[in-house]
Amino acid sequence: MQSSDDQHTRIDAVLGRGPPGMAAILDLRYTGDMPGTPIRLETDRLIVRRFQESDVPAILDYSRHDASDEHRRRNVDWEMTETSVRKWWAPMMTMRPEEAINWLSLVIELKGESRAIGNTGFNAKRIGDAFQGQTGWFVGEAYEGNGYVTEAATALLDYLFGAVGFHRVYAMTSLDNERSWGVMERLGMRREAHFVRNCYHDDGWVDEFVYAILAEEWAAHRAGQAT
Ligand SMILES: CC(C)(COP(=O)(O)OP(=O)(O)OC[C@H]1O[C@@H](n2cnc3c(N)ncnc32)[C@H](O)[C@@H]1OP(=O)(O)O)[C@@H](O)C(=O)NCCC(=O)NCCS
Repeated sequence: MQSSDDQHTRIDAVLGRGPPGMAAILDLRYTGDMPGTPIRLETDRLIVRRFQESDVPAILDYSRHDASDEHRRRNVDWEMTETSVRKWWAPMMTMRPEEAINWLSLVIELKGESRAIGNTGFNAKRIGDAFQGQTGWFVGEAYEGNGYVTEAATALLDYLFGAVGFHRVYAMTSLDNERSWGVMERLGMRREAHFVRNCYHDDGWVDEFVYAILAEEWAAHRAGQAT
């Protein structure tokens, strides 16, 4: 198990805060000491953390959406009952990053309200001694347009590249989900692909964008924000 000092050293290296710069970034490799629980990433306004039982009512609240809100409808994976929310989220309490073959979801808590307002997460595919995988996000309609998702995803990418040792993170969304690819662009991700009629929505086949960012690109992006 990795100590929290080790994790911070890795994060500092990725952010360019500590020696020895890029060499350290390229040396971010999985060594068998993956952090398990807890995951708790704190930002100015948010805590990105593991699900806890007391989140169930807030998750139901932020998941509510109009039937016409196709993006929310497609991205709520549970039925709108307490039992279903609890069942869907329970494995997220203990799943380790390297076990996130399908998806590890984390709650986005707004510190000012001490409640869950959305989620972000990732999957992880081990390739050699590194990982790559996908990320994604969801925020309750009432909390949209405040920069919370970009703030939460920034903390998550710091964690994935810094503490876990990811090599590459990608995200996908349909072309009409401008809010989602807006997050990707604010995170400094590159538009890597435009898949034609790749995903089936209510009205038929739609195109999708793929965005991605490498560990060294993330370090440069974060260093740029610090200046
Ligand atoms: C996609 C989704 C997560 C984006 O949420 P969001 O609130 O737009 O994203 P952010 O938190 O990054 O907020 C950015 C917005 O807040 C504004 N903002 C306000 N204060 C801000 C701050 N302090 N920092 C950054 N942005 C801020 C930005 O200008 C931007 O608004 P704009 O798009 O109108 O210009 C959200 O629309 C959603 O949950 N959709 C449904 C689920 C979904 O589609 N998920 C993605 C599946 S691929």
